Amino acid sequence: MMNKLGVIFDLDGVIVDTAKYHYLAWKTLADELDITFTETHNERLKGVSREKSLDILLELGRVTLSQAQRKLVLEQKNKDYLSFIAKMGPEEILPGVTPLLDLLDRLAIPYVLGSASKNAALILKQVNLFDRFKGIVDGNSVTKAKPDPEVFLLGAQLLHRSPYQCIVFEDAIAGIEAAHKAQMIAVGVGHKETLKAADYNVNHLTEITEGFFTALI
Ligand code: G6P
Ligand code: MG
Repeated sequence: MMNKLGVIFDLDGVIVDTAKYHYLAWKTLADELDITFTETHNERLKGVSREKSLDILLELGRVTLSQAQRKLVLEQKNKDYLSFIAKMGPEEILPGVTPLLDLLDRLAIPYVLGSASKNAALILKQVNLFDRFKGIVDGNSVTKAKPDPEVFLLGAQLLHRSPYQCIVFEDAIAGIEAAHKAQMIAVGVGHKETLKAADYNVNHLTEITEGFFTALI
């Protein structure tokens, strides 16, 4: 029965803490554009695509850019971000991730990645987790970003599971919403108050045990 389940993991904030690098790269751009941008503002960018993140940043500063300027600053932001990613290693995998993947392997529950990031494959390779996933749905494979369910519905296809058999691990409000729109079970990883829409909440993936999956069957 266990192998009728499937798991979809968000990347940023669930597998690795890349939010801090996104913040540093957006902050550099915000400073250049004279936009006040704090870590609190950064919360609004979590789970949101690169283009949409720029929209939010420009809106915060009431700044308008031409299409050509937008393209340039998006390239610059990603270049800055990738300079941090290049230094990442397996030590940056978040607590509980590796034991959870081991548990899923043991229970024969397949898992894929469902991320808004266009850098997802690169990041998984940096931390040596790329080969463990059955598949990857990322910012390059979707046309509609979270909270649209597209990313997770594609994930279910890769898993050969129906949406109701899928469990999504997410740290972003937009991600929980996307999982629910896809009719999937959503586990919020992080602040319970922020992720109160989730079906289950954990602070860290270390809290997920075999009993969690048995109880779902
Ligand atoms: C994730 C992060 C967002 C980020 C998005 C796009 O969802 O939580 O903060 O903006 O991916 O990432 P990318 O690597 O394509 O810029
Ligand atoms: Mg995330």
